[in-house]
Amino acid sequence: MTDVEGATRPIDINTVASTVVEVQGLVKTFDNGRVRALDDVSFSVPEGQLCVIIGLSGSGKSTLLRHLNGLHEPTAGSVTVLGQRVDQLKGAELRALRTKVGFVFQQFNIVGRLSCLENVLSGALGRLRGPRMGALSYPKNLRQEALAQLERVGLGDRAFQRTDTLSGGQQQRVAIARTLMQKPKIVLADEPVASLDPEISGQVMDVLFQACVEDQITVLCSLHQVDLAMGWASRLIGLQDGKVVLDSPVGEGLTQERVMEVYQRLDPEGRKVSEYATSVLDLT
Ligand SMILES: Nc1ncnc2c1ncn2[C@@H]1O[C@H](COP(=O)(O)OP(=O)(O)OP(=O)(O)O)[C@@H](O)[C@H]1O
Ligand SMILES: [Mg+2]
Repeated sequence: MTDVEGATRPIDINTVASTVVEVQGLVKTFDNGRVRALDDVSFSVPEGQLCVIIGLSGSGKSTLLRHLNGLHEPTAGSVTVLGQRVDQLKGAELRALRTKVGFVFQQFNIVGRLSCLENVLSGALGRLRGPRMGALSYPKNLRQEALAQLERVGLGDRAFQRTDTLSGGQQQRVAIARTLMQKPKIVLADEPVASLDPEISGQVMDVLFQACVEDQITVLCSLHQVDLAMGWASRLIGLQDGKVVLDSPVGEGLTQERVMEVYQRLDPEGRKVSEYATSVLDLT
């Protein structure tokens, strides 16, 4: 088939909904098999999905996310991200994949003594050769891009402020701007709002998920708060002792009661359920 000059090809439906994460039979044990952190986990995530992973402390959320950018090697099973077997990548190939997979951490992992702008600019280091010292050592177009990212997270007026003088919620927004500066295809966020109060948590989730929707970024985010999870996710995956016990789209018959049921099953004595129940009650 030949292209007619000037005509655009129709978009291939398979590329629009392509799978960007495929986890099959993933098992991870620690301490010579004594701890089974992930137990036969399988799921796949299509491009652009906002997928939230919930589960009690120790259920395997962080371990799962860390497999997706090669921070852990599976004990068994396979992890394919953006068409590449992460569990088989080494060195330069793994670093190249990581430039496309951004990570937002609970503790922000920003450099406090640097300005907000410099922290955001460091997100572009994967696109540059050699180290950089100071914002002026970056090309002008990247400085403009970094400023635009800071504007996007509502911190355009803080560009030259030392990052450690900002509030926790603002620091996390700087970290998000830095991740977006990386131009990732996927963002992994491990309890990005765990150390923030509920109102600020909502604002930070808003910034993260809105930006990802605008840029068609796929998000896998672990959260403790059920209300935030149900408010933002298009899909929920629930983990219990390293196993998937819930995998459902949000809004198609997935009620808070159903999610709470999973938690109650996880913790029949209700020791930790109160932690989640408060946030769920707010939704009614
Ligand atoms: N490096 C490690 N060495 C030994 N055990 C580990 C290691 N990393 C995780 N584990 C164990 O694996 C299990 C899952 O841990 P993980 O950190 O993934 O849970 P989580 O769901 O992220 O919990 P939290 O909500 O507290 O962050 C836990 O039992 C944990 O103690
Ligand atoms: Mg964790």
